[in-house]
Amino acid sequence: MRIGVLLSRVRVEEKLLFEALEKRHVDFDLIDDRKIVFELQNSAPMRVYDVILERCINHSRALYALELLNAWGIRTVNTYEVANICGNKFSTTRALIQHQVPTPRTFLAFTPESALEAIETLGYPVVLKPAIGSWGRLISKVNDREAAEAILEHKAILGTYHHSIFYIQEFIDKPSRDIRTFVVGDETICGIYRYSEHWITNTARGGRAVNCPITPEIDRLSRAAAKAVGGGVVAIDILERPTGELLVNEVNYTMEFRNSIDTTGVDIPGRVVDYVLRVGRGEG
Ligand SMILES: Nc1ncnc2c1ncn2[C@@H]1O[C@H](COP(=O)(O)OP(=O)(O)O)[C@@H](O)[C@H]1O
Ligand SMILES: [Mg+2]
Repeated sequence: MRIGVLLSRVRVEEKLLFEALEKRHVDFDLIDDRKIVFELQNSAPMRVYDVILERCINHSRALYALELLNAWGIRTVNTYEVANICGNKFSTTRALIQHQVPTPRTFLAFTPESALEAIETLGYPVVLKPAIGSWGRLISKVNDREAAEAILEHKAILGTYHHSIFYIQEFIDKPSRDIRTFVVGDETICGIYRYSEHWITNTARGGRAVNCPITPEIDRLSRAAAKAVGGGVVAIDILERPTGELLVNEVNYTMEFRNSIDTTGVDIPGRVVDYVLRVGRGEG
């Protein structure tokens, strides 16, 4: 068994994955996305791998590399399909709806004028998000019409074209937390609450991780969300309505997990590596 790890930088997560691979005496190579050159007519250098674990920081690099590797028939965790859906909030929401997974009410619009119309239809507050992005960056909670007009104008004039694809979502008045679960294959292995005084609860933004017991409902929802985007190794963001109803906010495909191992007591990197080995053996 030979494994390739495609990555940008060795972060805490990658170090932990390497340790898990070493513990299992698995041979692996680092494929640095800053150095790798793919010759499109020559798949031979990549054919030595039974499976490639993708850990790029940059979504576009991940997408291009995975498209090529999967086209060559090389197994990857995750697949191109999963990365393509999860890397884009519009595609993720669309897939969740198609698979009847509950998700916040969401609108798509292409101009500031039509976006404002969608916002007024939804009613304040609403949440605007770039379709592609993470770590809670550039997402805005819009409380009134004046703020909406200002943000839409800023996006249209100062943003790239990508910021004029308006993804507009109902604001869920959740308790001061959201839920992040980890799905590996067809199992919800653990979850955390992310507590914050701020409405954006990402741990990258100061959210505090606390163990979240996996209830049958959280388990069912998490696995359904993972299945909707094509499976693999994913992290699910779940929002709670004041009524207790659970909604899937988004699905992440190259997740960080450093804050969730001690919190949950689950060996996340070990579980990920075991799954990668199963995929490498053709049992994924
Ligand atoms: N519609 C919403 N209602 C309430 N809170 C939200 C909503 N969307 C996002 N949030 C909060 O903002 C955080 C980041 O949003 P998310 O859509 O997960 O983007 P990112 O990809 O940047 O993590 C979520 O974890 C949640 O705390
Ligand atoms: Mg998120």
